[in-house]
Amino acid sequence: MNLKILVMAGDGIGPEVTKEAVAVLQEVAEIGGHKLTLEAKRIGGVAIVQDGTPLPDDTLKAALDSDAVLLGAVGGNEFNSLPPDKRPEAGLLKIRAELGGFANLRPAFAFKELAVNSPLRPEIINGVDILFVRELLGGLYFGQPRAWDREKGESWNTMRYTRDEVARVAHIAFGLAKRRRKKLTSVDKANVLEVSQLWRATVNEVAAEFPDVMVEHQYVDAMAMHLMNQPRNYDVVLTENLFGDILSDESAVITGSLGMLPSATIGGKVNLYEPVHGSAPDIAGKGLANPLGAILTGALILRHSGGLEAEAAAIEASVRKVLEQGFRTPDLARSNPQGFTVLKTAEMGAKVRETVKEQLLAPSR
Ligand code: IPM
Ligand code: MG
Repeated sequence: MNLKILVMAGDGIGPEVTKEAVAVLQEVAEIGGHKLTLEAKRIGGVAIVQDGTPLPDDTLKAALDSDAVLLGAVGGNEFNSLPPDKRPEAGLLKIRAELGGFANLRPAFAFKELAVNSPLRPEIINGVDILFVRELLGGLYFGQPRAWDREKGESWNTMRYTRDEVARVAHIAFGLAKRRRKKLTSVDKANVLEVSQLWRATVNEVAAEFPDVMVEHQYVDAMAMHLMNQPRNYDVVLTENLFGDILSDESAVITGSLGMLPSATIGGKVNLYEPVHGSAPDIAGKGLANPLGAILTGALILRHSGGLEAEAAAIEASVRKVLEQGFRTPDLARSNPQGFTVLKTAEMGAKVRETVKEQLLAPSR
């Protein structure tokens, strides 16, 4: 396999965690004799400072010219007073739009080793394996009109969807559900919003093409509660952009830490891969960041852009093994720290690399 990856490490902890993800990918490529071509470009706050824009043209060009794009994180406190279209986040939204991926897959998998890190009881979260499919290019994030009229003291955003935009992401979600536990939960606010009524009607139309997938609808407020009460009830959860943003952070309570969650955005010209966590400026540069979300994001690159399912699974198995052996980053050792070996970002990356190597070279393979 030959894969050209553009790496945009971005801001805050982005560079530290991305470095570990890339190193794991390089290890896997070397063992399997695959060719990885890596290029690095700026995005977000670092691009604002150095290039005067959160998404420089050459970053976009390189992204469009690659097989997969890996992003670390964007954002920083020093940009908080800027309007939305000038902020680091604007660079991310622009590249999402330009790459065209509309289906953002956010798996929330509860490693049993991390149950102690969740405020939820182990019997609630053990066995949770949810795949959030978040629509990524519509809704409030991109809907027009949007503005802040300072004189009037009024501002507005628009939650807008076309039938086609809903249908295409629903197709992907149903297709994934069909290969999993065959249950799809669509989340909306159809008791109040027309946009959600269109969403629900369209999901039902698409559902007719997938008779073996069981479909249910939930209002987003109720879903926020059910996710904490009975997360095991869910398989694929399909939802619009903002609801998916909120529910996927909520799912970090189940998985034990936001630092564990990977994502892959598919359906466009080039797939975009990003851990769900943000730039965490408070811990940046201190070696305290958890690289496992980024490393698991690397596994998704191999699965969805490289066609290397066994290698992707080997990375996931290695993460589990490292956790089984009691290794943790600080975010994963909030309770019972004395029972664990707490590692720095780079040490955790090295552990996973070592374990992946063992996994891939094991005679049983
Ligand atoms: C995420 C993030 C982004 C989003 C921000 C950084 C723009 O919160 O990927 O979940 O809201 O989509
Ligand atoms: Mg978010």
